[in-house]
Amino acid sequence: MGTVVLGTGSCLPERVLTNVELESIVDTNDEWIRTRTGIESRRIGGKGEQTYQLSANAARQALERAGVAAEELGLIVVGTISSHMLMPSTACFVQKEIGAKNAFAYDLNAACSGFLYGLDLADKYIRTDHDMKVLIIGAETLSARLNWQDRNTCILFGDGAGAAVFGHAEGSRGIIGSRLLSDGSLWDLLYMHAPQSLNPDLTVPGNAGAYIQMEGKEVFKYAVRAMEDSVRELLSREHVKIDDVSLVIPHQANIRILNKLIDRLNVPPSKVFINVAKYGNTSAASIPIALDEANSSGLIAEGDTVLFCSFGGGFTWGASLIKW
Ligand code: ACO
Repeated sequence: MGTVVLGTGSCLPERVLTNVELESIVDTNDEWIRTRTGIESRRIGGKGEQTYQLSANAARQALERAGVAAEELGLIVVGTISSHMLMPSTACFVQKEIGAKNAFAYDLNAACSGFLYGLDLADKYIRTDHDMKVLIIGAETLSARLNWQDRNTCILFGDGAGAAVFGHAEGSRGIIGSRLLSDGSLWDLLYMHAPQSLNPDLTVPGNAGAYIQMEGKEVFKYAVRAMEDSVRELLSREHVKIDDVSLVIPHQANIRILNKLIDRLNVPPSKVFINVAKYGNTSAASIPIALDEANSSGLIAEGDTVLFCSFGGGFTWGASLIKW
């Protein structure tokens, strides 16, 4: 143990898009969206709210709360699938924005699991260098990567960013462990094409545009089972009982996935942090935004055992445990 969260932050775009407003964009209605997904509104990025800008705002907040200067950072990792450029990485733009001149920086593509994969990286780096401070961000502007004529997808997602600064502390606090998995053979249940190839020989058949496509029912089934299995494996490996977990912070995909997970894990709903109604599914940003909300509203106390779990495109999924 020893890798602790020193501070958290988040940043949401100002513009709120309600279900009722969506009714004038696609053939849907507030009642359908609420009952099928639990989502009531989501945030949509505007000018000055690109993924890197939301990320930088979340990062500044996390650094200030951590009492860590940007120059002290050794590494910045951004989990995202919605950068405004393919190169440089969003992480490099964040480095420039916050002035983290001593850090190296790169992006991580694990869709909705980006933050948990990043948390595991932070732990590995810090275990080998106790002086290192690592900034992990999950950030998306998926509104730029949605087909706004497809009611199966455009109602689900939202924009935002969450950040956490990690460092080393002596004692029994810190990341206990993670169980992370992927299955690339199921890629075509949830995917987003890259922009069209400029080399005719490398054109990808069926690439109608760089937006999210999904087989919702299949994703639903896999998501519940995969998150449950990874949580159970992690708890068993680390000899932690579900009753000993103080707070579960799951990826905020939709309320029905979360309710099924709550049932299967037999965890009291009061121990599960849920904010999907306000922000929809913000992919890699969902766990760090929820973590920051839980942390800043005093829901996590020193010594608490916090469990995270995620599932996303790839497929990628997993669970992590931290003693706060
Ligand atoms: N408004 C109104 N009707 C809709 C909408 C909409 N936005 N979207 C679909 N419908 C219609 C369908 O066309 C269908 O109509 P039909 O019966 O006439 O064909 C009907 O509603 C039922 O559609 P289903 O796809 O069966 O609806 P379902 O109950 O499966 O709910 C949903 C769809 C919400 C997408 C569900 O499958 C789901 O939650 N899947 C998980 C997807 C997810 O969370 N993905 C996020 C990325 S992965 C992750 O983060 C875990």
